[in-house]
Amino acid sequence: MEVGGKFPKPTFKILSDNLAVQGIHAQFGGVFPMMAKKEHVQNLPILLEQALKKTKLDKKKKPVDMIAVTYGPGLEPCLWTGITFAEDLGKKWGVPVIPTNHMEGHILSVYAKNKGKFSIPKIEFPVVSLLVSGGHTELILSKEILKYKMLGHTRDDAAGEAFDKVARMMDIPYPGGPKISKLAQEERDRHINGGKFQGIKVTLPRPMMYSKDLDFSFAGLKTAVLYTIKKINPLTDEHKSAIALEFENAVVETLIHKTKKAVELHKAKTVIVSGGVAANQHLRTEIKKAFGKKAKVFFPTRELARDNALMIGVAGFMQYLKKKGKLPKNKKIKACGNLKL
Ligand code: KG4
Ligand code: ZN
Repeated sequence: MEVGGKFPKPTFKILSDNLAVQGIHAQFGGVFPMMAKKEHVQNLPILLEQALKKTKLDKKKKPVDMIAVTYGPGLEPCLWTGITFAEDLGKKWGVPVIPTNHMEGHILSVYAKNKGKFSIPKIEFPVVSLLVSGGHTELILSKEILKYKMLGHTRDDAAGEAFDKVARMMDIPYPGGPKISKLAQEERDRHINGGKFQGIKVTLPRPMMYSKDLDFSFAGLKTAVLYTIKKINPLTDEHKSAIALEFENAVVETLIHKTKKAVELHKAKTVIVSGGVAANQHLRTEIKKAFGKKAKVFFPTRELARDNALMIGVAGFMQYLKKKGKLPKNKKIKACGNLKL
């Protein structure tokens, strides 16, 4: 992308946006680090070629002025693959490589578009961000731009991980989140139209709803689904839909309850919801309902909710501007699997 403007309101113009989806994990029901790394090694040169072709930039002549790369959090073998690839290009083209935090990318993704031009708007602080992905469920407070304080996090599974695991229990392939959500929505629509639960009425717990902190826990909810399934034989499509609906309701209610608490406690004026699970339609609808005019709510577009390179470009350039272009010279970037914001 083409970047311009000044901190804290830079401008961006998308020149090319490419994504490689790792379909390989579906057959194994989850992400295996070494397999994910192998896919990265194969995909990165292909994605680079696609971007250069689309933008008509010449790879022999320093096609870009800087490169942003994710150094954490995430699976370290995958992070190292990206870092090595970016640093090799940086050396070849003589351009700086900006180490970028994946979660900061998710937060800033709410201001981005995957086509055309956009800029970071004037943000009203304090901001509470709910980050919900396959690896994270966190509430983050920002009192100013690019400053973060963790308010709460999951004590076990992440929300997206719980969606994927519940899907797997019902033989729904990885990533199960979108499919569970589709089943839940169809069942919800049937109920709105006066339909009844077909065969069973599923009731699941709302974990940590009444704990005083801002933490989450989804492992118990997942186990409750497992016990429910064990009692049903055979597990029909109707059962699966009823479970999906109650499970999605339980996750969304808990996420909203704790987000509301964080917003009230810190008198937040803005709420950001991002990460893969922010693509969930029920969560989007209910969050908007929960905050109404009380706070400004931002989501990424559905395309930018899941992992993408564009959000890393935005976060990397913001950091570059904040540091006024001063980046440590010749400092090797290190992968940091559990990097915090
Ligand atoms: O942010 P992301 O692309 O990757 C990580 O950094 O983890 O998030 C992926 C997660 C997966 O667990 C996936 O099942 C979940 O986001 N997800 C959803 C939906 N779309 C993706 N979960 C619930 N409802 C959805 N519509
Ligand atoms: Zn992510």
